[in-house]
Amino acid sequence: MAKITKAAYFEEFGSLEKIKVGSLPVPELKEGEVLVQVKAAGINPVDAAVREGYLNSFIPVIFPAIPGWDVAGVVVDRGYSARRFKPGDEVYAYARRPMVQNGTFAEYLVIPESYLALRPQQITWEEAAGIPLVGLTAYQSLFDAGNLQANQSVLILGASGGVGSLGIQLAKAKGATVIGVATRKNHDHMCSLGADHTLDYNNDLIAEAVKEILPDGVDLIFDCASGETLQQSLPALKAGGKLVSILNRGENLPPDLNFEYVFVEPNSAQLTIL
Ligand SMILES: NC(=O)c1ccc[n+]([C@@H]2O[C@H](COP(=O)([O-])OP(=O)(O)OC[C@H]3O[C@@H](n4cnc5c(N)ncnc54)[C@H](OP(=O)(O)O)[C@@H]3O)[C@@H](O)[C@H]2O)c1
Repeated sequence: MAKITKAAYFEEFGSLEKIKVGSLPVPELKEGEVLVQVKAAGINPVDAAVREGYLNSFIPVIFPAIPGWDVAGVVVDRGYSARRFKPGDEVYAYARRPMVQNGTFAEYLVIPESYLALRPQQITWEEAAGIPLVGLTAYQSLFDAGNLQANQSVLILGASGGVGSLGIQLAKAKGATVIGVATRKNHDHMCSLGADHTLDYNNDLIAEAVKEILPDGVDLIFDCASGETLQQSLPALKAGGKLVSILNRGENLPPDLNFEYVFVEPNSAQLTIL
């Protein structure tokens, strides 16, 4: 088993300059864990927040800390009782653990096998590593929290970004009507992913524009942008509709609003569906 891994890591909180590249020990394989040789690791906005120390109060960082929560790679070894995957299996994972210490920006990653799913074969390693965090966020927001159904409608704020792009595709695959909100330059991209309608948060009054498309409003607002765009979108919600946000935890929202904040969780079964 590999004893040393080349990795990107940091030893104190701060800006990008705190990142070093060097060699660190690979943790011993424990019960139920596998060793993955990393082929690609996805980068998300949260990685910067972790490095700056903003999440430390609820996801503690242990230095030296290797960041990174997205991975696609090959199983090369497995610990006692880890039998779901065998060496050579190509896998991907959202690898967030209770603490930040041995993340995915490394050559080797030790991870409980319960985090893994077989990776999609029709896309590249890099594409596969870009899916878990944003894909699970979109899935859990739209379906676990939002209970989006085939004949319903969803307004996605920040629909051209990492989470929103997966949100459009998952909502369309479900059979819902999708209105995507982003800047004009990204409207063709959102349409190519399946958005039925697109709006520009710089030039459209979102709620009014939604009501021109769907006079009763939408069943679900999926908020990946927050701020002023969220505030001016709220009247677009149908009576009985729901707001699901991955940014707003309830700040400045009407008290009677049907609202849920989502913080994405690892989920192997949902990765397999994705
Ligand atoms: N709670 C969780 O579990 C969770 C999970 C994943 C991500 N997040 C957070 O959610 C946010 C989005 O993540 P991401 O990976 O999708 O980020 P991203 O790839 O940077 O996408 C950001 C999106 O927001 C849009 N946007 C920017 N300013 C906007 C505005 N004023 N009004 C409406 N849309 C606006 C962008 O559109 P244009 O480029 O067209 O401007 C783009 O579509 C990040 O802050 C991330 O940290 C939270």
